[in-house]
Amino acid sequence: MSHHIDDIGMLAVQVKRPVIEKTDLRALTDAVRPDLVGAYKGKRYMIRTYGCQMNEHDTEVMAGLLEILGYDSTEDEELADLILFNTCAVRENAENKVFGEVGRIRPLKYRNPELLIGVCGCMPQEKAVQAKIRETYPWIDLVFGTHNLHRLPELVEQAYASQETVMEVWDKAQFMLDDLPKVRKEGVRAWVNIQYGCNKFCTYCIVPYTRGRERSRTLTSIVDEVKGLVASGFKEITVLGQNVNDYGIDLGNADFADLLRAIGRVEGIERVRFTTSNPWNFTDRVIAAIAETETVCEHIHLPVQSGSNAVLRKMNRGYTREYYLQLVKKIRAAIPNVALTTDIIVGFPTETEEDFLQTLQLIEEVSYDSAYTFIYSPRTGTPAARLEDPVPLEVKKERLNRLMELQNKISRLHNEQLIGKTLEVLIEGVSKTNPNVLSGRTRTNKIVLLDAPKEAIHQTVFTRIDAAQTWTLRGTLVTSDVETA
Ligand code: SAH
Ligand code: SF4
Ligand code: F3S
Repeated sequence: MSHHIDDIGMLAVQVKRPVIEKTDLRALTDAVRPDLVGAYKGKRYMIRTYGCQMNEHDTEVMAGLLEILGYDSTEDEELADLILFNTCAVRENAENKVFGEVGRIRPLKYRNPELLIGVCGCMPQEKAVQAKIRETYPWIDLVFGTHNLHRLPELVEQAYASQETVMEVWDKAQFMLDDLPKVRKEGVRAWVNIQYGCNKFCTYCIVPYTRGRERSRTLTSIVDEVKGLVASGFKEITVLGQNVNDYGIDLGNADFADLLRAIGRVEGIERVRFTTSNPWNFTDRVIAAIAETETVCEHIHLPVQSGSNAVLRKMNRGYTREYYLQLVKKIRAAIPNVALTTDIIVGFPTETEEDFLQTLQLIEEVSYDSAYTFIYSPRTGTPAARLEDPVPLEVKKERLNRLMELQNKISRLHNEQLIGKTLEVLIEGVSKTNPNVLSGRTRTNKIVLLDAPKEAIHQTVFTRIDAAQTWTLRGTLVTSDVETA
């Protein structure tokens, strides 16, 4: 093992964090210019979304704006008059996919000369992507970024009037985009932004560059939005941020624990979830708030990224393996039956076999319910992209396979332990693969498939678990005897 005694406990931050400016953003008034309301009646839009839940939620906002303009949604690209790609920049293959798709749909323009194709979200925040679109994809009609998505109505208007690409990307946020209209499709679960941006600057990660500095919404505006959602029938609220447990640091009058308690006691709310929390600054106050607020679900997504202190240090994660394991112990002691999930990057530059084995060991020790696993992808402009990387891709792929094999085994064991138990399941709808079967989730965020009448959709029911697979549980509807997972 290559780490030293001073690795124990919180690490002194190795990479200097940039100076963070305090942001004081104006509130946005009048999202849509009055003369544009209904101006595109009869036209249809389609948004293809990549990346994290933040992007999924931004798509709901863009849909909200387009519907005010008069657009209807369509799932059929042949029928669409506007196709938007809401993109993710976090790994290179996500970017390649988008460029591939944009190229694939180009011929639709010959059939429908009125068709607008747009690229928005995180990719356009990169200068290199802007240049690539100008040079290689000049027939893309509009391009905008994460900080100015409220400009969509006027950019659409400009794109109809222009022969050239309308490209407007802001380097930083100027407005809090809290009060924009949203189209929420699902009806029972809703996302609510509590914080924009990220200040952590993990050395591999592009998000601080595409989303800007951390900005928290005020507690009252969040709680008001949640109350409105619950009043219109939503039962489960997931609050979103890149580091939700840093919530409020920039405001100074409330922290994430206060926020969880405030949302958790909104009259009529059934479930509260949050994503993503960072091991860094996961305080005892937050653990207590989760443990003591009944509506907050027993599931914590706690990305560890690596089990090796040497790698964690080079990633600038700000914690050690020992700190992380200690945190997991505290969480498990305070929140019985909590489900823990994680993100892991394999093949960070210079990761040795020894480092990787430490990750495998940590995975066994924590025993996660599931994990998202990625091969490191260098992102231009991030500090890690300048590190030498002698590890061949073949080795990285092989490590990823070993990691997934181990995690799948552990995930299945967790699921098998639930067989015979009766759990609370919030039914979301019909199963994607079989319309005769309903699909819902446990409080611990596990997917349960069950036979039940369609009236059960959007209801919380008690389900006995009969069978378990790596990704899903199979259950039977019962009426009593709930046990928490
Ligand atoms: N804010 C969240 C993560 C957002 S990005 C957090 O810190 O937990 C989602 C995941 O993508 C990260 O947790 C990380 O595992 C992965 N990721 C980010 N940058 C990456 C890169 N350059 N290569 C591979 N995976 C990456
Ligand atoms: Fe990226 Fe790190 Fe911020 Fe997460 S905390 S978004 S991994 S920089
Ligand atoms: Fe991707 Fe942007 Fe989210 S880079 S992970 S869509 S914040």
